[in-house]
Amino acid sequence: MNNKVVLSEDAKRHFESYINLINVTLDDYLSVRGLPYQIVADACKYSVENGGKRLRPIIVLEFCKLCKGNIADAISFACALEMIHTYSLIHDDLPCMDNDIFRRGQESCHKKFGEDYALLAGDALLTYAFQIASNAGVPPAKTVRCIRALANYAGIFGMIGGQTLDIQNEGRKDLTLEELAETHRLKTGALFRAAAEIGCITGNATCQQYDAARIFAENIGIAFQIIDDVLDVIGNPEELGKEVGQDIENDKVTYVTLLGVEGAKKLAEKHTEKAIKALKTFENAELAIEGTKYLLGRTF
Ligand code: IPE
Ligand code: IPE
Ligand code: MG
Ligand code: MG
Ligand code: MG
Repeated sequence: MNNKVVLSEDAKRHFESYINLINVTLDDYLSVRGLPYQIVADACKYSVENGGKRLRPIIVLEFCKLCKGNIADAISFACALEMIHTYSLIHDDLPCMDNDIFRRGQESCHKKFGEDYALLAGDALLTYAFQIASNAGVPPAKTVRCIRALANYAGIFGMIGGQTLDIQNEGRKDLTLEELAETHRLKTGALFRAAAEIGCITGNATCQQYDAARIFAENIGIAFQIIDDVLDVIGNPEELGKEVGQDIENDKVTYVTLLGVEGAKKLAEKHTEKAIKALKTFENAELAIEGTKYLLGRTF
């Protein structure tokens, strides 16, 4: 499970069709023209549309489908979540944060547009996400539940909480594995939780399906960030589309710091296995399971 996994043609087609739908819908939302403050709209579009794996919106659509829902009900929320994720990356790259000048294979937002506009582009994407979610065209009760999930997991009790811990942890020689797990659970895991939960809401999940989706998201979120930490040490910047060696540069304490590359990979494998076990409780989860294995062996 630790080696690179090649997706089957079926899985490729399946995920590519999601990615196409996500990209076309995002482009629709972001093709704003003629504003007197066009530069910030351009910065939003630049950062969202320059690639990205689209993992979180894929998870939204996949859980909606696994619950036998209609993905047309989920696509706006999926795009809103990708906007929130992209805003988190724009702000994460700022000089006062991780100070990264490359993202998704090109100059990061602040390098291209300046810090002031990058800050505003992040703010704009966060706000636009809620505007889009509130106009998703699904019944109000469902809309409110999806918006609540976005807010809970993106904010102070979720991703922002984790990003704060991430800063507080810098340079800490006494950081425990439990503290690091909590940081990863929030800074990265929270948006995966949002994705799985929104998929379940839009797909009318049963209680059992909600539980399984939560267990999947908790485990895949941690595994994903562990692999991100590993790739920061052994990855190829061309493939990753971002610089490597940044965690050491920024005095970050990661799973690689605490467990070494092999130890970290083993732990990611363990969490991936738990995520797959949770998926197996759904009917027709073969492609989702394949995608999950693929993520563990990713080099990008
Ligand atoms: C990067 O997320 C930030 C982390 C939480 C590790 P992704 O690796 O999903 O970034 P994109 O969306 O593909 O650029
Ligand atoms: C970022 O983690 C998580 C976010 C919430 C943005 P990292 O700082 O490790 O992400 P990269 O490596 O810059 O993509
Ligand atoms: Mg960071
Ligand atoms: Mg970073
Ligand atoms: Mg990283």
